[in-house]
Amino acid sequence: MTVIRHLEGDALVSLKEEYEERRLQEVFDDLDSELVGLLPIKNRLKEIAALLIVHRLRAHLGLSFSNPGLHMSFTGNPGTGKTTVALKMADILFRLGYIRNGHLVTVTRDDLVGQYIGHTAPKTKEVLKKAMGGVLFIDEAYYLYKPDNERDYGVESIEILLQVMENQRDDLVVIFAGYKDSMDKFYASNPGLSSRVANHVDFPDYSLSELLAIAKLMLSDQQYVLTTSSELALCERIKLRLGQPHFANARTIRNIIDQAKMRQASRIFNSGGRVLTKVDLVTLQVEDM
Ligand SMILES: Nc1ncnc2c1ncn2[C@@H]1O[C@H](COP(=O)(O)OP(=O)(O)OP(=O)(O)O)[C@@H](O)[C@H]1O
Ligand SMILES: [Mg+2]
Repeated sequence: MTVIRHLEGDALVSLKEEYEERRLQEVFDDLDSELVGLLPIKNRLKEIAALLIVHRLRAHLGLSFSNPGLHMSFTGNPGTGKTTVALKMADILFRLGYIRNGHLVTVTRDDLVGQYIGHTAPKTKEVLKKAMGGVLFIDEAYYLYKPDNERDYGVESIEILLQVMENQRDDLVVIFAGYKDSMDKFYASNPGLSSRVANHVDFPDYSLSELLAIAKLMLSDQQYVLTTSSELALCERIKLRLGQPHFANARTIRNIIDQAKMRQASRIFNSGGRVLTKVDLVTLQVEDM
């Protein structure tokens, strides 16, 4: 329990205790150590946490507080960390007592919209039921609205979502995610929706040095190491991929690493019956890149 002391009729609440009790520092430390870069986004999450803590403290002292709708928009290219941050967000909101469960339900249009008349409402409601008490993450949300198709059932789904987002906002947070341009168009054609999404967060593409840092973080998590020359080779590989189509930021880095691990395994396998050391097993060589 947060300690509330009464001093000369003036009640005090402890911000520090509230913070510690909810073990928020842990989440923020994880956020800093597990995610490279993304500083504006990390700060944004801290701001939201601060706001919610102040709301709770106000509530303890009987001061008025209004529930800030926390529905969000995450825009950015593939592999920029949207899903990962959404998971963290769910955890933070849970620890702050904003949502009951802290689980994340990820869906796309096909999970919400039916093919035939009468199918959409039950589908959308089913998803909402699953997500209640947690965070509903709608990936590539702009697909929900297809203005070219007059008989599109997406609109029906949006209307149900809107209603629930308004009426049950203290029990559900909806995050709409997708590429920036398409999402901007989506909000422009759905003003009702855009006005209910208070937090717009843009995920920029990673720089070369951030991509390299992400690669190193992934490698150390998986207990692999690079040599000086294989690190250079990795850097060159990333540079090359940066300019190519379908480059997907951190996701591409993960794929490059997976490939390198595969090549390392084959190389070791084909090296004959020689005795292997730990160093052999953890080191990715130039030829693996
Ligand atoms: N800043 C980061 N630091 C370390 N790892 C990261 C970072 N951003 C993303 N990753 C890793 O990259 C992978 C892809 O990230 P994520 O799935 O969150 O991206 P996304 O924006 O949701 O992509 P998509 O649009 O393709 O769904 C994950 O394995 C994640 O752990
Ligand atoms: Mg994702």
